[in-house]
Amino acid sequence: MKKLFITLSLAAAAILPAMAQDAKMDKFIDDLMKKMTIEEKIGQLNLKSNWLYFATNATLPEEGEAIQQIKDGKMGAVYGFTNLNMIKQLQELNMRENKHGIPLMFGNDVIHGFETTYPTPLAISNSWNMDLVEESSRMAAKEATSVGINWVYSPMVDICRDARWGRIVEGGGEDPYLGGEIAKAYVRGYQGKNLADDNTTMVCVKHYALYGGAEAGRDYNSVFLSRQEAMNGFMNPYKQAALAGAGSYMSSFNEFEGIPATCNHYLLTEVLRDQWGFKGFVVSDATAVNEIMAHGLGDQQEVARRALLAGLDMDMGSDAYVNTLLKSYKEGKVTEADINKACRNILVAKYKLGLFQDPYKYIKVGRDEKEVRNAEQLAFARKIAQECQTLLKNNGVLPLKKNAKIALIGPFADDAKEMEGAWAMSKKADQNVTILQGIKDALQGGSVTYAKGSYIYENAETEENIKYGLMKMFGGANMKFPPVHTTPAEDLLKEAIQVAQNADVIVACVGELNNMAGEGASRADISLPDAEENLLKALKATGKPLVVVLTTGRPMLLNWEEENCDAILNTWNLGAEAGHAIADVLFGDVNPSGKLTTSFPRANGQMPIYYNHKNTGRPHGDFETYVKFKSNYIDVINAPLYPFGYGLSYTTFEYSNLKLSAAEMPMNGTVTASVTVKNTGSREGKETVQLYIHDVVSTSTRPVKELKGFQKINLKPGESKVVEFKLTAEDLKYYNHELEYVCEPGDFEIMIGANSNDVQKTVLTVK
Ligand code: BGC
Repeated sequence: MKKLFITLSLAAAAILPAMAQDAKMDKFIDDLMKKMTIEEKIGQLNLKSNWLYFATNATLPEEGEAIQQIKDGKMGAVYGFTNLNMIKQLQELNMRENKHGIPLMFGNDVIHGFETTYPTPLAISNSWNMDLVEESSRMAAKEATSVGINWVYSPMVDICRDARWGRIVEGGGEDPYLGGEIAKAYVRGYQGKNLADDNTTMVCVKHYALYGGAEAGRDYNSVFLSRQEAMNGFMNPYKQAALAGAGSYMSSFNEFEGIPATCNHYLLTEVLRDQWGFKGFVVSDATAVNEIMAHGLGDQQEVARRALLAGLDMDMGSDAYVNTLLKSYKEGKVTEADINKACRNILVAKYKLGLFQDPYKYIKVGRDEKEVRNAEQLAFARKIAQECQTLLKNNGVLPLKKNAKIALIGPFADDAKEMEGAWAMSKKADQNVTILQGIKDALQGGSVTYAKGSYIYENAETEENIKYGLMKMFGGANMKFPPVHTTPAEDLLKEAIQVAQNADVIVACVGELNNMAGEGASRADISLPDAEENLLKALKATGKPLVVVLTTGRPMLLNWEEENCDAILNTWNLGAEAGHAIADVLFGDVNPSGKLTTSFPRANGQMPIYYNHKNTGRPHGDFETYVKFKSNYIDVINAPLYPFGYGLSYTTFEYSNLKLSAAEMPMNGTVTASVTVKNTGSREGKETVQLYIHDVVSTSTRPVKELKGFQKINLKPGESKVVEFKLTAEDLKYYNHELEYVCEPGDFEIMIGANSNDVQKTVLTVK
């Protein structure tokens, strides 16, 4: 009894100050809102970017549409500024003009680092290291807040099963459980313990919801998923972010069930707020409110009304709210309460960020000089990049010797900018460490000779369109760019062959340009571009050992490479310290430990492809060849080339002795699954041990495998560890046909192994 009392009082001691704090905040906001006109409240719902509405230089334009909106109190937040001085000027202007002293929030796409670029989110997910994920967001928050940013458009947690979709690079892969763990880690890192600290920032979880389900991998495309599949296969990361206290969400461009997400009441209110208890605010994606018109749901006034009533609080870049909500209010199409709700959600965010206490909290002159791209940032960028690389093949040629004679060949070998990946922000991308530089810095007694070898595409126009597409879009059709093909392609190849012939080993750096992944960068064919493929074939013909270092934003088709190359190191896009981190792995100073979080298909036609698929009524072994009347293809086996969870090390691991602490588990019980993992090679290494389940008999169909746990361990040569996973009914739950979240009694296969394809199996019965 006494113990219970103490526990309760401790809990009360923690909760009561928070409640008092909330009451204080509520009163402050009530008082403020009483003084605001409807127009001023609508003004808070407006968000503008620097891109289209402001000059991007360091001084504020005196006039302009957006400047006038700030002066008129028609702006709640701005985004896209990366310069402290500019942010300061904007806040000063706002504070001078805003009648109620309501500060602006400053948002930005801090996706993988800010001025110091870290590996892309897809790369980071390959680390399976949640401490690193958290640290990366904490570090990014430190850097971004030092220029005045206090709201980041991250984490992007869209599950994606289709590598054609360019935005696969921005997320954590295909698995909803892993995605949920990653989402929580990002929220913890960015928001820290207290949002009001000047080095933490509010997250904006995106793109809510189901954007990664775009049909045929074509960006912005419709999503056709049942509610049940959405809940089971896609929603967990969004849900976990809400439970972890994420401050805001961004609605997605796609439709779901015939209603664009931006005005989808089921998604924005019934699920996010009512089921998951989210209390923050939701912003649209860029111009997405206006885009509802293109979806065919009415004029600007109508779509803005629908979005507000669905639960969308803030309008990014459409001006639809500021243009039409007052009219809708006067016509009785929206109520003051509807507007109040959205306005309050936004004011609460500003309050929690500490902006009412001090609008300049994040704007400290000089802080940026100390915090941006400092030594700590660069050291972290290297550390995290070391752990994101995934070794896909190695016949023993890696690690390389530091006294080797290396031919470093390929369009990615000496290109700093192309190390950054999609959605990078740094103004110093030209200072990213190239692969050539990284190798030079690491060699001891060896040599490296570089030759570009090829362009990306044989056709210069194709390459130019990709490289300069974005700039052309904003700069106009007449803008001139340097040609992408200069030296004749034959000369490049000739030089490369010569360099290769004089070396012990070829390291070929090929892949995708930054602009080939990310937003608006879907591909129908995810092969290596033709010029690079031709280069690899010519290099292979020299007979020298051939190591492929892949730079990419998405899984690619690597059948030829798997068959013909000696090693494939997938480095994704590693950012500021790419070259050093790649050299660390190539020479074995770091033992690679990345594992894939997306399946790598064998053929374009296999997509969407994902390990946690359902069985059919006519299942077919993943590696079996074609059989008529089975669920398979005539021309390719079902298995991906590299499965989810796969990745090699310079050492080897052996799994044995899979055990359950009990073969049966009552509904309210706990069972421990364990396995012994031994390092059977000669190097220390890290291994991610993965636990999967399969619900054998259920009331709805269930995936053949579902990840439910993982642990990354470190083992010295010869060392072994027993790795344990505690399982409860909670881990075995799913959304049934009635969308109830249930664990159904019966048998569950419990599988533990090194990847989704390579597991040992036992059975647990839930009573
Ligand atoms: C993207 C978002 C991004 C926003 C603001 C949109 O086009 O879809 O991911 O946060 O722009 O830059």
